[in-house]
Amino acid sequence: MKRSVIFLLLLMCVACWSTTALAVPKGKSLTFDKAKMGVVTFDGTLHNSVAKKGCRECHNAGTFPQMKQGTVTITMENIYAGRQCGICHNGQRAFAAKGNCKKCHKH
Ligand code: HEC
Ligand code: HEC
Ligand code: HEC
Repeated sequence: MKRSVIFLLLLMCVACWSTTALAVPKGKSLTFDKAKMGVVTFDGTLHNSVAKKGCRECHNAGTFPQMKQGTVTITMENIYAGRQCGICHNGQRAFAAKGNCKKCHKH
């Protein structure tokens, strides 16, 4: 009995540790460097603080389904249409993509 409780606690620790270690929000940034326009740095700390529904705000079937970089191809067409980063970068919740290229694309 005792042994299984300890094992369970251990499992829980590992689970906690791995989510914080992997979470984009906890001090981690992602770099998107495929566009000739310039490298985009996605700041996980900032973005977690503005996501009202937490991880699910971005990690849902219609936006970024997987917690793994490179599983979704981000395009400006999608962003302008209010998808992907454009669910917020629409001039309402956050600065619009049009006219603000350099706020995201840096050299
Ligand atoms: C504002 C949007 C947003 C929020 C909120 C968000 N993420 Fe992400 N996350 C992304 C994007 C975009 C990617 C890259 C997805 C892709 O390329 O397919 C990503 C990727 C990841 C990755 C993979 C990182 C890598 O190096 O491959 C992990 C792990 C992750 N997110 C965890 C989390 C967790 C845990 C939370 C909540 C605490 C969270 N994310 C909240 C946007 C977000
Ligand atoms: C949940 C809403 C949300 C989503 C989704 C989102 N952003 Fe943001 N982003 C914000 C807010 C809010 C700010 C703060 C600036 C503002 O208020 O306009 C911001 C700021 C930024 C900044 C400027 C950071 C700085 O240091 O000044 C960059 C770059 C950025 N976002 C890139 C992205 C990229 C790339 C994606 C998609 C992978 C994305 N964002 C998705 C809400 C979001
Ligand atoms: C909210 C952040 C953000 C803003 C603002 C933004 N972009 Fe992007 N853009 C991205 C991200 C993220 C990618 C994907 C890069 C990657 O996959 O490495 C991208 C990709 C691109 C691409 C290559 C893919 C495609 O759709 O052709 C071009 C070109 C591009 N951006 C041009 C622009 C121009 C021009 C502007 C201003 C009018 C702009 N971007 C504003 C985030 C942004």
